[in-house]
Amino acid sequence: MPGPINLACTDQGSGPVVVLVHGFPIEGSMWRDAAGLLGAAHRVLAPDQRGYGRSPGTPAATMADYADDLARLLDRHAVDRPALLAGLSFGGYVVMEFMRRHPDRLEAVGLVDTREVGDTPDAAAGRRAGADALDAGGPVSAVVAPMLPKLFAPGAPRTMVEHWSRVLCAQSPGAVAATLRAMADRPDSTETLRAFQGRALVVAGEYDAITPVEVHERMAALLPNAELRIIPGAGHMAPTEQPRAFASIVEEFLAQDARS
Ligand code: MLT
Repeated sequence: MPGPINLACTDQGSGPVVVLVHGFPIEGSMWRDAAGLLGAAHRVLAPDQRGYGRSPGTPAATMADYADDLARLLDRHAVDRPALLAGLSFGGYVVMEFMRRHPDRLEAVGLVDTREVGDTPDAAAGRRAGADALDAGGPVSAVVAPMLPKLFAPGAPRTMVEHWSRVLCAQSPGAVAATLRAMADRPDSTETLRAFQGRALVVAGEYDAITPVEVHERMAALLPNAELRIIPGAGHMAPTEQPRAFASIVEEFLAQDARS
């Protein structure tokens, strides 16, 4: 049973709290530019999830572990008021688990380039095979290679793609294997979205080739109180590709909250 761990995390700015939860298999630095912009008027926490970046890992982890890590992070950083929790892709799956486990800690959620449905049996089997290959000594690059062409919008700068390719391939094989299994086992979150009473911001890159815009239209329709925003010209990594557009969307969303 994986025990509790303390996540490494950047913590900048002051004001209403925004927690940014990274995708797979990446780390909190994917939010660096967006967090810098948002930090002008908000307190922004961008953790490395369990086993990623500078955070310690465990041989196995469940979606519940990843979600509980965030609740513990809020305690450690003395965040005692409900916060906006926004997650990209895998980070979105963790946010949906957090919605089930810690709803009282949420002011609002951000579901960014993600999806509410679980894996198909074939997709789950593929993830488990990928995890087994990592356990057998295979490289993280074998997991990253098929994802890479779909992560960024067509025409994204080569330097950007190469930088993030290096960051993805440098993650710990054990952490990547643990997340592959956790994602394969994750439940469908359709009813979680339908039941959520708080505000939700749903964001997609126009050219997201992993979780396309239609998925975000469906999630926004399920959520009782959602705002859907599309970032033109961006792909699956929309907040990293276009941090200014992403930060403006979050600022506008939170400003509506302050006015209401
Ligand atoms: C991610 O960007 O986090 C992944 O595409 C999530 C997934 O593989 O389902």
